Amino acid sequence: MREGHFILLGATGDLALRKIFPALYRAYRDQLLTPNILATGRSRFTQEEFLHVLDSKVKAKFAPKEQDLWENFTQKVRYASMDLNRAEDFRALQTSTLHPNTLIYFSIAPEFFALACAHLAQVGLNAPSAKIVLEKPLGVDLHSARAIHESIAQYYQESQIYRIDHYLGKQSVQNLLTWRASNPLLQSLWNKNHIDHVQISVCETLGVESRGGFYDPMGALRDMLQNHMLQMLSLLTLPLPNKLEAPLIRQAKLTLLKSLKPLQPKNLAKQVIRAQYSAHRDFVGYRQEPHINPQSQTETFVALKLEIDRPEWAGVPFYLRTGKRMGDSFVRARVAFKGGNFLEFHVQPNPSLCFKLAPFTLSSALESGMDAYQRLILDAFDSNQSAFNHQDELEAAWVWLDPILQAWQANETPLYFYPAGSFGPKEAFDLLEKEGRAWF
Ligand code: BG6
Repeated sequence: MREGHFILLGATGDLALRKIFPALYRAYRDQLLTPNILATGRSRFTQEEFLHVLDSKVKAKFAPKEQDLWENFTQKVRYASMDLNRAEDFRALQTSTLHPNTLIYFSIAPEFFALACAHLAQVGLNAPSAKIVLEKPLGVDLHSARAIHESIAQYYQESQIYRIDHYLGKQSVQNLLTWRASNPLLQSLWNKNHIDHVQISVCETLGVESRGGFYDPMGALRDMLQNHMLQMLSLLTLPLPNKLEAPLIRQAKLTLLKSLKPLQPKNLAKQVIRAQYSAHRDFVGYRQEPHINPQSQTETFVALKLEIDRPEWAGVPFYLRTGKRMGDSFVRARVAFKGGNFLEFHVQPNPSLCFKLAPFTLSSALESGMDAYQRLILDAFDSNQSAFNHQDELEAAWVWLDPILQAWQANETPLYFYPAGSFGPKEAFDLLEKEGRAWF
């Protein structure tokens, strides 16, 4: 059983109540962690009021028979209201002896990161035994990602920084790499001689919901592709290290991200399709959603084709697509072999592995395992950085994506529209069809 001190910045926010507290509670219930939680937020709640919020927003997710356990868990939570702008508010976090396993979770907007780090450092919370967990978005392009990092790096070493990409905490995403590493048959097939193409889809039926204010300046490329999808792509294609150890895995992912072939400006309009959902049936269009600019040019869908500049992948196309308000919700990667056979990784829903070996299709259900946030928080307590991103990976992803963002900003390529509840615009289908291939 681990013991640890957990400081949460942004404890009354949506992410904290939807993901972080449930993950902490599950880890406690499953006897994996005894946390001592200091929850902080802008709201001037008393301890009692905050516990009431936890009861109404989090407890309901768990079975009534867990009532006693839940009560024990909440006794470990202390609330302090804190304005991130006020250095004196951080005194509530000061302790005479820092717990040797202290995790500080930044569930706050990145514009507050620098300030929070400076104030934390003033009360000694950047000592070597303190670790910080950072939520995305860690920048909106290369320049801002570097600026955020520079402000944090004044106070914390890379070994203290845990950049969360919750997809890397999903068992079914971690499996992408462990299967490759443990299966000599797959390894011998994993190259341009046998593979025709690879496609990854992250489709959601959800629209932007109440997150318009966050999403409109962001868009699908930054929200999903820069992180979750490029990470899945790298796990599928990275040069396998000798051992699956954190520094080696991160290095291999970095090697892969750096070898993404830069998109040529003249090909961008053909290779990268951006689109936005429009009203259809019961669904309003993106521009009519709350907190969205009625003339917004933000993409809620992106489909693109890329290549990897490594000998084993020469000439193999990779197709990635993601969108909101689509016809169905699923996350899948298909590795299509020459001759019509394929291997499909179903990440969600129903994690499974599906192997089409004509004329048979074999399918095997897989355990979904622990919730992603729970796994990642435990990893961070264990100082295991393998499922967290290094700053260099982040920068490599932005280096590759920046030209797309710049072309879009300059309106060099069209924004297409797709009816809410569909699978994207015709142009996204054409991307594969004109090459004799098709999406799932
Ligand atoms: C988040 C994005 O990172 O991932 C959301 O900001 C998206 O827009 C979510 O809905 C999807 O995560 P999951 O685990 O539900 O597939």
